Amino acid sequence: MKVSVSTIDASQLEVDVLVVLVSAVTKNPFGKGAGKAVSSAWADFDGTPGDVLTTYPEKGVTARKLLLVGLQSEPSLEDIRNAACTAAAHCRSAKSQTVGMVVPESKAGADLTGQALVMGFQLGLYKFDRYTTGPESEPDPERLVLQVSKDDKAVRSGAERGKVIADCVATARDLVNTSPDEKVAPKFAATIEQLGRKHGFEAVTWDKDMIEEEGMGGLLAVNRGSVDPPTFSVLEWRPDNVANKKAIVLVGKGVVFDTGGLSLKPTKNSMDHMKADMSGAAAVVGAFEALARLKVPLYVVGLIPATDNRPGQTAYVPGDVIKMHSGKTVEVLNTDAEGRMLLADALSYATTYRPELVIDVATLTGSAVVALGDHVGAVMTNEGDGADARLQRMVESGERSGDRVHPMPMFDDYAEQLKSTVADMKNVGGRTGGAITAGKFLEHFVDYPWIHLDIAGPAFKAKKHGYRGVGGTGFGVHLLVDFLLSRASVRKGR
Ligand code: BES
Ligand code: ZN
Ligand code: ZN
Repeated sequence: MKVSVSTIDASQLEVDVLVVLVSAVTKNPFGKGAGKAVSSAWADFDGTPGDVLTTYPEKGVTARKLLLVGLQSEPSLEDIRNAACTAAAHCRSAKSQTVGMVVPESKAGADLTGQALVMGFQLGLYKFDRYTTGPESEPDPERLVLQVSKDDKAVRSGAERGKVIADCVATARDLVNTSPDEKVAPKFAATIEQLGRKHGFEAVTWDKDMIEEEGMGGLLAVNRGSVDPPTFSVLEWRPDNVANKKAIVLVGKGVVFDTGGLSLKPTKNSMDHMKADMSGAAAVVGAFEALARLKVPLYVVGLIPATDNRPGQTAYVPGDVIKMHSGKTVEVLNTDAEGRMLLADALSYATTYRPELVIDVATLTGSAVVALGDHVGAVMTNEGDGADARLQRMVESGERSGDRVHPMPMFDDYAEQLKSTVADMKNVGGRTGGAITAGKFLEHFVDYPWIHLDIAGPAFKAKKHGYRGVGGTGFGVHLLVDFLLSRASVRKGR
């Protein structure tokens, strides 16, 4: 879909359908000039979010059709994305090929509003039809024209960025939605390399020998029940003139399928979602695509440990004591707590960069879902210099991006739950505070400023929720990109 910005009066836009996002307080921009049907439609439509009304102007408007779409008054960026998504769905089912959309006023400013409109519209049209046969689905709109009377430059820069970020979210969704047998670790790593070549970031794959040489005991232990070898992908984006000397490292959990291992998961509402257990890795890959395509002036490294977790003949068992990459030992008491095993090795390897900041993204615990539900991720950070500010910046990126995250406490009392009698720690901390004890486990392996994002809830949807359809949501891509853009402070208009 092509996106453009126009300052031509809305009434004169040559499009199949003209979309106006209407709140309770929006005035009819056409007055009586578009005829009675439009005035009556406007009077009837109360702008309830999710509602739409189609009307046909008798005069004064070039577009054949006018689509009114409900929007909150004083809309948030997420409200705007959702309204644009509603519009997109209607345009597709009405087979409208060219769509004009009047850019609404918002407190967030013209740049971010343009970005939100394009993201909501484009992600609302996302579909994953790689495996379906049968009749073609309805065609997508070919062109979206954002109409503004002022600030067209800001809207244009936001719209261009929005298009790229929406593509990157779609990349992550595609990776998550891919059938597990097509993304066993070596194939997944090859796909990441391919994306690197396509978009211009570096991606190198370590094979099992290299992983053994490096001593990544956690990743190797999880892989023991699998017939496919593990991989460790190292991504890098390092343009000239970067704003940071020391690397920012993104770590993504790449469990390409989580059966639970010998601590086997039940199928319904549990194992049946576990092709999405590489959503953290997908978010990191999506963020790298955005870094490269937006040419963000930051030095960023990505680390993706990948394997499936299976109960094969040689699988690791409860009671095994594993020597990790850092040299610390872990008593495995539940093989389903595998994400932390491989993340720990990646976090420990990240120390070699002496990084400015490391952010890990992972579908780590069911406990995070119990605590925060399906729509919000958990964020944790190690205490010490700048902890509050770091947390605050991530929460703000969550608010702007719609990938919302909420802080969890990291008091030391929680660490006691991980004490082992035979090793340095256990890999499970008991029934209570599970998302936090997982965070405390990872904290043992970091010696730098660190942010942990547990996205087990929002990474995957069984039911459509706004512009996030069924399946992989790409949660985390926009969050990371917003966070990194703020660090690089390249975005105008804020
Ligand atoms: N991949 C799961 C976490 C998960 C749960 C992701 C629900 C998405 C939706 C993770 O590997 C896991 O199984 N965690 C266990 C840890 C427990 C054994 C300490 C969990 O949360 O039950
Ligand atoms: Zn698990
Ligand atoms: Zn898992």
